[in-house]
Amino acid sequence: MMKTGGMKEMKRSLRVIGWMAAGLLAAAVLAGCSSSGGQNNKQDLTVVDSDSTDPAVLAAVALYIDNCMVCHGVQLEGRMPGNANLQHVGSRLSEEEIVNMILNGGNGMIAFKDRLKEDEIATLAKWLATKK
Ligand code: HEC
Repeated sequence: MMKTGGMKEMKRSLRVIGWMAAGLLAAAVLAGCSSSGGQNNKQDLTVVDSDSTDPAVLAAVALYIDNCMVCHGVQLEGRMPGNANLQHVGSRLSEEEIVNMILNGGNGMIAFKDRLKEDEIATLAKWLATKK
């Protein structure tokens, strides 16, 4: 009855789309300063908030796709045991606590203090803190 194989297939292709989106978003962010975002090459993505018009949110989403989505899922639903679901992380943790989690990891999560810049971590934490 349940076509779990098909579901897996779908998730896999979503992830591929995600990686492509990461490239597009990164390019958009890099090019973003000169243009006003008019040529925003939007695709039909299902990645959380990828349809946002807020550049800060899009920057966070691009970082999320690159660094976090593999464990936390396309819709922040979590793909690991424990508290990996981030859909309401803002009501569980403060922005500062989110920063600390990203810096240090723990319980199955890797630490990002040597992988991401401080302002990148801040961008991610600010966005995630809005997920109440
Ligand atoms: C290798 C897999 C992995 C990656 C990559 C990863 N995480 Fe996690 N993350 C986890 C797991 C597993 C947990 C749950 C830990 C626990 O139960 O205490 C978690 C927990 C969290 C939490 C705390 C959630 C809560 O409610 O306590 C935050 C915030 C978080 N991750 C953010 C991020 C961000 C942002 C990134 C990308 C920069 C990221 N994670 C990348 C596996 C990962």
